Order: sequence, then structure tokens, then C-alpha cells
Amino acid sequence: MRSATGALWMPFTSAGGSTPPVVVAGDGNYVVTDDGTRLLDATAGGVACVILGHGRTEIADAVAEQLRTLEYHCLFGYSHPRARELAEAVAARAPGDLDHVFFTNSGSEAVETALKMARGYWRRVGQGSKTGFVSLHRGYHGMNFGGISVGGLTENRAGFGPLLEGCTQVPAHDIGALERELAYRDPSTIAAVIMEPVQAAGGVFPPPEDYLCQVRAMCDRNDVLLVLDEVVCGFGRLGHWFGGHRYGVVPDIMTTAKGLTSAYVPMGAAVAGNRVHDAFVDPQGSIELMHGYTYSGHPAACTAGLKVIEIMEREELVGHSRQTGRHLQERIGTLASLPAVAEVRGEGMLAAVELRGDSPAPLVAEAQRRIQAAGVLVRAQADHLGIYPPFTFTPAEVDRVVDTAGTVLGELS
Ligand SMILES: Cc1ncc(COP(=O)(O)O)c(C=O)c1O
Repeated sequence: MRSATGALWMPFTSAGGSTPPVVVAGDGNYVVTDDGTRLLDATAGGVACVILGHGRTEIADAVAEQLRTLEYHCLFGYSHPRARELAEAVAARAPGDLDHVFFTNSGSEAVETALKMARGYWRRVGQGSKTGFVSLHRGYHGMNFGGISVGGLTENRAGFGPLLEGCTQVPAHDIGALERELAYRDPSTIAAVIMEPVQAAGGVFPPPEDYLCQVRAMCDRNDVLLVLDEVVCGFGRLGHWFGGHRYGVVPDIMTTAKGLTSAYVPMGAAVAGNRVHDAFVDPQGSIELMHGYTYSGHPAACTAGLKVIEIMEREELVGHSRQTGRHLQERIGTLASLPAVAEVRGEGMLAAVELRGDSPAPLVAEAQRRIQAAGVLVRAQADHLGIYPPFTFTPAEVDRVVDTAGTVLGELS
């Protein structure tokens, strides 16, 4: 049976549903669909990844030049200049002593790598019974088996049979619940606690201001590693290089992806601190972490990542994200009084407008459709509209998104 998209089996999309819109080009903060419509992209490529906006020929040119020089050579014992340079650049901007960058091709692989690093670490230090993970309800950590096992969105786990053993979730942002879980499971069985700084895909839930510091302290008291999944929050989305900076914590391992290359080329990374990394270092030269991907640190991706950091700094986009993020939060807050709106949440350049009702999904889909018909792209997700623009958005573009959403949600109230 052919699906609506022919041979293309699309991710997170109904194969039996109607034909999805086709995006053919990108230009700054806009994308263009195949019927020529220009849409203001308040989703940064749909899933908060195109942080520099679309159509940066500078990145394309640098990647093309790299491909002409060296398209690929595997990293089994070999490195290449761009991988070394990007690792240094990421380490220099990461919180604390997160100085050891392991490249992957996606956020899901970064999470998988972080989980393996955590378990591997405890084996290296002679505590191999510490294999479990504790994470949060509503957390999203990608779609690999490790990621759905620690993920807190149960719908992502249904239908795939047995998962990674020893993974439990506790209510998000409830420090007592986390403490009880660690005590109940016994910290000598737990490798790590993993969470996002701000829960993004699960509905945009910022933590209480001191929550992450409390989690850090609790992990230290219980001798459990802390993994911060910064796939969305990292690279400026919260108005700081990383969520760890925003909330004043240094995890033992951090994951990143999306903004790392602004999605111009797929890439992710798991970044470890000295404690974890140094436990693996074997002066005899054996491979201590038997893990990697064919394309870990691909030259094209590393080149894109280096250009992203160069542009971020040249255009001061972290500061811009912070300022525009404040404006976004102020403006989006005005939607909270609309009858159709249950709650508005956000932090920095990340916001959600949750709609009222027991099953608001059809209303959310209708709102998204009407907002798109008015020329603005926001994301429809279960019970909320997701808004996470590129950092190049101007205040006027933020206003247009909020005003358009306000008009549509007013009509739907
Ligand atoms: C926090 C978090 N972790 C991991 C992932 C997975 O990243 P990817 O889709 O690149 O595999 C995502 C994706 O949205 C994410 O939001």
C-alpha cells in the first residue's frame, strides 16, 4: 500500500493521513512552501533547531569547501582538524569542566552515549551495580531505546516491548519525589539522574528557580551522576550558552544537538566533565569506551558547528536570544486571559500556549491551521501550541506571531 507521501515513510507522521505540506526553501526567518507561500517560522525548522534562521549561505559555503577538501575519514584512531577545533570550541563554552566532547549524529544518539558513559563510568570505578536511571515525567530524551526508556512521555514507549532495565520516572520539579525515589531504589543501584533544564517537547515546563541546584546537591549527596539533556536548551535558547549556565549547575554529562549546527548538518554530542572522562583514560591505550558511530564528528557537521559558533558570537545571538526571549515571554503572557487558553508557559525563546478542554488536540490543530493560513508557522502538539523561533527573530516578528495567535485563539474562544 502506498502512503500519501509515496515511498517516503515520514517520522512522527500518520502514513495513512493526508498529504503533508512541502517546504521547499528557507530564507532568514521565513520558509517557503511548494505553492509559493512564505511563512514566518516561529518553530525554527519545526523543532527548535534552526537557531540562526534559514538560508545562511556562509554555512553552506564552508561545508562545501570542507567537502572538497576532506569529505570523510573514520575516527577509529584518526581525527581531523575540524573535529578537534569544534570539540575545543564547545568545551570552551560549556559550563564548568565539561571539556570532553563525544560527537554523535543526533540528540537521541547523544542521550544514548550519555547513558552508556554513565554506566561505563561506574564500572570503571568498581561500582558496576550502579546501572539504573531516574528521570522525570514528561521528559523527552529522543527516540532510541535508551531515550524512550528514560523518557517520561509514555506514548513514546507504547508498542515497542521491553525497554532498558532499571529506569523509573518521578513527577517533574518535585525535589521530594526525587529524593524519595533515590532512597527507595537505593543509590548504590543508580547510575544517573537525567533531565532537561527546561522540559521542552513535553510541553515547555520551566523548573522552579532553585530546582536544578537542589538536584545537583542531591546527586552529590547520593553519589549519583547528573546528566542534563540540553538538546533543545543548549546553544542559547534560554538566553545563555547552556541551560546549566541559566540555572547555575554543572552536570557530570551534558547532551547537545539541534543548535550545535543550527540543523544545517545533523550532529549531536555528549560532553563529559573531568570526573567521568578521566575514569575512562587508560594509559595502556586500550579502547575504554567501546562506543561510537560511523559519522561521529563528520567533517561537514564539524565545519557547520564551527560556523554556527562564529556567527553566534559575531552577531551576539546569545544576548539577542536573551533580549528577544524576554519580549516573547512578556507578549505571550498576554494570551493567558483568552477563554480558549488554559495556561501560557515559557523561558527564553521557548514558549507553549496550552488550550483548554479535556481533549484539546483538535482545537490545537485548528488553531495551528488558522495561524498558518495567516502566514505564521507555530507547532501544534497535543494540548499546546509550541513557539520557539530562531534567535534572529526581531521584536516585531515576535509581535506578529503573538498577535496572529491572539486573533485566532480569540475567534476560537
Ligand atoms: C531534550 C531532547 N533530547 C533529545 C532529543 C532527540 O534529538 P534528535 O531528534 O536529534 O534525535 C530531543 C529532540 O527534540 C530533545 O528535545
